[in-house]
Amino acid sequence: MKHLRLCAALFSLPILASAQANTSRWYDHAVIYEIYPRSFQDTNGDGIGDLNGITARLDYLKDLGIDAIWITPFFPSPNLDFGYDVSDYTNVAPEYGTLQDWDHLVAEAKKRGIGILVDFVVNHTSDQHPWFRESRSSRDNPKRDWYIWKSGGGPTEPPTHWTSIFGGYTWSWDEKTQQWYYHIFLPQQPDVNWGNPGLRKAMMDVVRFWLNHGASGFRLDATPYLFEDPAFPDDPHPPAAGGPAALEPYNSGRPENHQVLREMRQILEGYPGNPVLLGESSTATIEDLAKVYGSHHDEIQLPMDFLFGNLKVLVAATFKKQVDAAELQLGGQTPVFFFSSHDHPRQWSVFGDGDHNDQIAKLTAALTLTQRGAILMYYGEELGMATMPTAELKAAPLGPKRPRADDRDGERTPMQWDASTNAGFSQGTPWLPVEANFATYSVEREKKDPESIYSWYAQLLNLRHKDAAIRDGSYVPLESGNVNVFVFGRRATSKETALIVLNTSAQEQTVHITGMGSKWPSFSRVLMASPAASAPSSAEFTIAPFGVLIAWSNP
Ligand code: GLC
Repeated sequence: MKHLRLCAALFSLPILASAQANTSRWYDHAVIYEIYPRSFQDTNGDGIGDLNGITARLDYLKDLGIDAIWITPFFPSPNLDFGYDVSDYTNVAPEYGTLQDWDHLVAEAKKRGIGILVDFVVNHTSDQHPWFRESRSSRDNPKRDWYIWKSGGGPTEPPTHWTSIFGGYTWSWDEKTQQWYYHIFLPQQPDVNWGNPGLRKAMMDVVRFWLNHGASGFRLDATPYLFEDPAFPDDPHPPAAGGPAALEPYNSGRPENHQVLREMRQILEGYPGNPVLLGESSTATIEDLAKVYGSHHDEIQLPMDFLFGNLKVLVAATFKKQVDAAELQLGGQTPVFFFSSHDHPRQWSVFGDGDHNDQIAKLTAALTLTQRGAILMYYGEELGMATMPTAELKAAPLGPKRPRADDRDGERTPMQWDASTNAGFSQGTPWLPVEANFATYSVEREKKDPESIYSWYAQLLNLRHKDAAIRDGSYVPLESGNVNVFVFGRRATSKETALIVLNTSAQEQTVHITGMGSKWPSFSRVLMASPAASAPSSAEFTIAPFGVLIAWSNP
């Protein structure tokens, strides 16, 4: 890291309207690392990752510098949606281990200062869950009302023509009891009825169960869909007409959601250590996202910003617009930025241009990890793991370990630990093939290379921990005068400000920064830069293609 002084004109920084971070809670600046447990580390040679594999790699995660882990579902499941069809909320699927393995993992993680979030699938269960088996056994079963049943117009006419997110109608006909049940996802994922007090209590007991087992919180799956309009009005755009799956205000973002989330939050508040709710809370607008925090900030502390996560073209001005909106319109709450997940293609493949992929990976890392708020990382993004191309996936055989192909398989390939067989993921045959780039993009190789993507991430995460401005500082919106360059500040105190400059184009760009007041900061040094650069000595300077510059001033 270079320490260069800024020599030129001495400028002071104005107080700008920006959200001040609440620094009292760990999750307000946390980096949360998502692990798809099936693909992280296999310790028993069955080709499927397991909880003990995560425990075995905790030192790696500690060294990398993450604060918490979100593990996608590891509960017993028929795996039609790879764990998101839960058949037992309070147990561990045999392929992932046992509850004892979970307890061991939590204890070991805690020793390293790492919290673990459980993925709670709150909207639906598997059709194999005992609750649904009971519910479908007869119309007068006590659990009938734990799910959503309607007669519609008989076997050929569903109650509404709403479209499921996974295609087809949101209704499936049950021959035995001669009614339709509702599912916004697969027919094997019936929606639970949160309006039923018994179901509600059972779900809240699941929350207590995992908190009692040491969870630091939950990632809440599919939160917008908990309730439907009780009148079930019909959809003017049925599936045949390509109608939208989420029908606000009928089955998405219903006002009833708030009470459930408040109740859940209250349970968390009764536990020590500030457990957190991280929400899969996709919204159409920033105003709607603001509501997910709760009108008294008493619901989801960390709703994921899908308006940011869904940006798939690397244009500085677009990202600036989104970050500015989050900072200025979320009422000072903690934003949650991310690029990739088990549902989203890997950022390496989305943003890489084929010529500058490593540099672009460093740029996108800086784009999230220098922001105020909680940042999500997806396992392997710190290596430059790629989305496996569909043609290669098609060639990979289906079998008991991979009963069906999923169009998200490409971003779920095994973690790339080293250059050995199966990239060090498994001694057996992996459930999904390893991505072809593993010889170059692996933990083993990249840890030895100070210029690697891994080393860049490790430095960024280290900076985020130790630098008060980057960790907790308020966001200072700045203008670069150039649509290809995103510039902003992070200010811890009136004296300490970090300047972040990101060029999202393949050409060198000139910026003229405004918004910092009349004087350029007097003292500055480069905290990180790629490629290497000096601290800018005036408001006008150039930045390299896909360049990143993080400079610091302390007059
Ligand atoms: C969420 C999960 C996704 C799953 C769906 C249904 O969107 O992230 O993987 O398929 O919910 O549970």
